Amino acid sequence: MQTDGVRIFGSETSPQLSIVIPTYNEAENIVPLLESIKSKISKIIHAEIIVVDDNSPDGTGVIVDNYIKNNGFAQNEGNINIKVIHRKQKTGLIQAILEGVSYAKGKQVLIMDADFSHPPEIIPKIIETSQKNDVSIIIASRYTNGGSIQGWSLKRRILSLAANHIARRSLNVPNVKDPMSGFFAFPRELIQNTNFDTKGYKILLELLVKERNAKIIEIPYAFTDRKSGKSKMNLGIILDYVQSVWQLYRYGKNANPNSFNRSARFFSKAARFFTVGASGLLVNYFVSILLSSGLFTKMWYMESTLVGIVASITSNFILNKIWTFDDRNFSPFHLIKQYLSFLCICSLGAIMQLSLVYGLVETGNSYELSLLFAVIVSSISNFILNKILTFKEKIYD
Ligand code: GDD
Ligand code: MN
Repeated sequence: MQTDGVRIFGSETSPQLSIVIPTYNEAENIVPLLESIKSKISKIIHAEIIVVDDNSPDGTGVIVDNYIKNNGFAQNEGNINIKVIHRKQKTGLIQAILEGVSYAKGKQVLIMDADFSHPPEIIPKIIETSQKNDVSIIIASRYTNGGSIQGWSLKRRILSLAANHIARRSLNVPNVKDPMSGFFAFPRELIQNTNFDTKGYKILLELLVKERNAKIIEIPYAFTDRKSGKSKMNLGIILDYVQSVWQLYRYGKNANPNSFNRSARFFSKAARFFTVGASGLLVNYFVSILLSSGLFTKMWYMESTLVGIVASITSNFILNKIWTFDDRNFSPFHLIKQYLSFLCICSLGAIMQLSLVYGLVETGNSYELSLLFAVIVSSISNFILNKILTFKEKIYD
């Protein structure tokens, strides 16, 4: 049978499990993988395997066609059927996977890579877990206890850990250890009402963010880098990732206001504090120039500089009080106390900046870098100390 490039062989009673395997240039891997999966599960479950190939130049799709044709096993063993979906174009991993899932008939769907990074030995464990537990999403996990990664360069590891951290924090899935796994199972029903709208690799992440009520179990496994063929990961896919976090952000925001908003509030206050700081530089500059210009008065330049500094500290204080920290207590005693505290902390910051620059330049660093570092450190300390001591807030409020 051939429907728009789809071949279906074997018995057509509904399988319990559909395994969706996206492929792009996996000629060396795909047949050994199909053999391996078959040997691991044909005795325990009735399953279909759906290979979704994006017209691989190395002929992966045709290889699977021939494999199905030349092997009577689909009919003989009855338990495992194999299909290929030939997509005409490579339009992204998520799209390929979703197209595969749209052909799936199993109660459960399992997604996995074709390059043996996802060991077929784990599939029976996934099946067992889904049969024994009332869970929705089962994740084969590199980062849960007992999981590991073999054969990745330090750079790829760091990239993965960073992406993982960003996803868990900013999209608010802190309890999932490996939300970026490409090896996971879920009931087919679960995604019937889910709209996927990101590009790139991270379909599980999108599922987790949009199906927040799903129960999740992670099963550890050792991810092993592919032995044959090449990873399709590239800069474009990393940028897709950044874009999808951006797109998914609002789903994280609505999920758990408490833990999420804390860091959002912290960063938005920091941003306001630094904006006020920048406005202070302008105030400082223009007040000093104005006072020495003779337009109203002609001060000695050292006096006008001093007044400029005081003016900018004062305007910074007022703006931070009202805008950054939203503090509306204007009783005189309170105001004076706060102003003095703000003044002390800013002076402390200045002293800190001076000593840092001195220490760094004297130990052989360039002035530009030393100054940059010192400015960053002292403005962060200014922000945090004023937040805690002057405006009496907790660090994360
Ligand atoms: N049909 C199709 N179309 N398949 C694709 C495409 C595509 O555009 N891009 C990649 N694939 C297939 C590959 O042939 C392979 O079977 C699988 O998708 C994963 O691609 P790899 O290129 O091997 O990805 P990876 O090893 O770098 O990344 C893996 O680990 C990531 C975790 O950091 C994947 O499992 C990712 O899903 C996972 O997020
Ligand atoms: Mn891979």
